[in-house]
Amino acid sequence: MMSRSPLVRSRSAAVLSLVGNTPLVPLHFEAEQLTIYAKCEIFNPSGSIKDRFAKCVLVDAEQRGLLQPDSVIVECSSGNTGIAMSMIGATLGYQVRILMSASASEERRKIIRQLGAELVLFDSGGQYQTGIEMSRKMAAGDARVFMPRQFENPINAEDHDHCTGQEILKQMPGPIDAFVTGFGTGGTLAGCGKAIKRRWPKARIVAMEPADQALLAGECPCCHFIEGVADGFIPQLLRDAPLDGNIKVKSAEAMAMTRRLHREFGLLVGTSSGANVIAALQLAQELGPRSTVVTLLCDRAERYFSTPLFETAKN
Ligand SMILES: Cc1ncc(COP(=O)(O)O)c(C=O)c1O
Repeated sequence: MMSRSPLVRSRSAAVLSLVGNTPLVPLHFEAEQLTIYAKCEIFNPSGSIKDRFAKCVLVDAEQRGLLQPDSVIVECSSGNTGIAMSMIGATLGYQVRILMSASASEERRKIIRQLGAELVLFDSGGQYQTGIEMSRKMAAGDARVFMPRQFENPINAEDHDHCTGQEILKQMPGPIDAFVTGFGTGGTLAGCGKAIKRRWPKARIVAMEPADQALLAGECPCCHFIEGVADGFIPQLLRDAPLDGNIKVKSAEAMAMTRRLHREFGLLVGTSSGANVIAALQLAQELGPRSTVVTLLCDRAERYFSTPLFETAKN
């Protein structure tokens, strides 16, 4: 095990202790006469669910002696993982290099650089494989490189099973009828899905997919505006998720619901949260007004200022 100095340990303890144990709140939709339950991952210190993976993968790597003082953490990310990895890497004292699609919002780039990480942008029409290939080549040519590999690393889904999923089970007073969320790596859906299904076998575990890119529905990849989800392929981690179905959400409807969450609920969340809420409401409608449908608010709104989400906002 790599021994860190007491100074680094005590400074990293502060941010590490803020990751996870996020609140879960009921959201009452008066017009629809429905209530859904939202786990507020926006309360994580960098503002997204991805803080969980960054924390667990880097702490695990330290414990297994895989990180040295000169290690370079290299990860391909659409933004949230990049921000989370930069934050946790900074507090643990490691150099971080993030490979990000040039289509990701300007705010994400600024936050990553502000946290002291190096940013490498690649142009690939929003598809991920280019960045993943680039990161593999970097690792092959440099022994200092450590790759968290969020898309393949089983720790990703395991942590959601052992932490996020268990938190949900503790926070919900009784049986859970359905759990729905989008997927990027599939770690959240697979991990939380397994935890919930184990405790409540009748619970429906459902994937939210952008309607413009419904891969699970057998449709072709295309462009969509729900950042953070659906990167153009079905991820490996999703293959053993206990999925019962999928719900397609249109980008425009996701944005409208996200603005509703801002203005009616005061919840400043990103577009995928709006999409998740639409899917959760659809399930609650199907399962009845007393049903318990859980979803996630994955990230905060401030990383979307330059995106279409804020274009029609009237001040
Ligand atoms: C913005 C955002 N980040 C992350 C996730 C979860 O991603 P993953 O499948 O990689 O766990 C979601 C899922 O809805 C999301 O909307």
